Amino acid sequence: MEQIVYLDGAFVPVAEAKVSVFDRGFLFADGIYEVSAVLDGKLIDNDAHLARLKRSVGEIALPLPETLERIVGIQKELVARNNLRDGLVYIQVTRGASIPRDFLFPKAAKPTLVMITSEKDIVNSASARTGIAVKTVADIRWARRDIKSVALLAQVLAKQAAAEAGCQEAWMIEDGKVTEGGSSSAFILTRDDVLVTRENSSAILPGCTRKAVTKLAEERQLRVEERAFSVEEALAAKEAFVTSASLFVQAVVRIDGQTVADGKPGPITGRLREIYIDFARATAV
Ligand code: PDD
Repeated sequence: MEQIVYLDGAFVPVAEAKVSVFDRGFLFADGIYEVSAVLDGKLIDNDAHLARLKRSVGEIALPLPETLERIVGIQKELVARNNLRDGLVYIQVTRGASIPRDFLFPKAAKPTLVMITSEKDIVNSASARTGIAVKTVADIRWARRDIKSVALLAQVLAKQAAAEAGCQEAWMIEDGKVTEGGSSSAFILTRDDVLVTRENSSAILPGCTRKAVTKLAEERQLRVEERAFSVEEALAAKEAFVTSASLFVQAVVRIDGQTVADGKPGPITGRLREIYIDFARATAV
């Protein structure tokens, strides 16, 4: 069956989904995206993702072409039309197409809304069992990383460099501290069992999974400290992991070739992953 995508009001086969070369997403990366996980055909923590979508578009004065209620309806219809059991729903909104190319916001352009599904068995992924290796790179991104912008060139380069070094994720470094992963939030568990993750600010994307995991951890009496940490601290930590809609919780077992603790996924990471998956299934819509 050919994959069906949503484009500006219609559900169409991929081959028929065409966007103008004048689309500002294409020319200027003038757009916002979101990614929600799907388990058993249901959306995970979707309200949080849509709240962040609304905030991101607001921050760049981009009007959403549909209500959030309608967007949820489209997400669900797309999941159903593609018979998606486990995977992701990607949403992208750009400021639309206008001719000629001009930096200023167009007066007449209509925002372009695209949604795409992809299959991924997030719960049973091999890397969840083995943990992942990360490579550190300089964080060369812009100053508004709290906006989930489609301008992802820095992350493309970071993740490509990581892959070429045999790693599955990049950790971006600024002023000697980890900001976040190329497409994930970063955590460590210190020797005295404190869960540390960087505080939200314009330096990082406020991760939805990060928020849920810190709340679930605190509810289970684990101490959480929101502050930046260095790679040295991560290498001296008991455990390290990343969170995202596309990974949930995954152990980090190597950083730049050096092992974290014994180089195996730690027990607290494993437990938080189970707890998050239980939360995801229990709250899926
Ligand atoms: N990325 N930080 C960055 C830079 C991200 O791109 C992401 C998500 C996260 C984690 O956020 P959340 O828990 O809300 O997924 C943190 C998505 C999955 C992506 O770009 O595919």
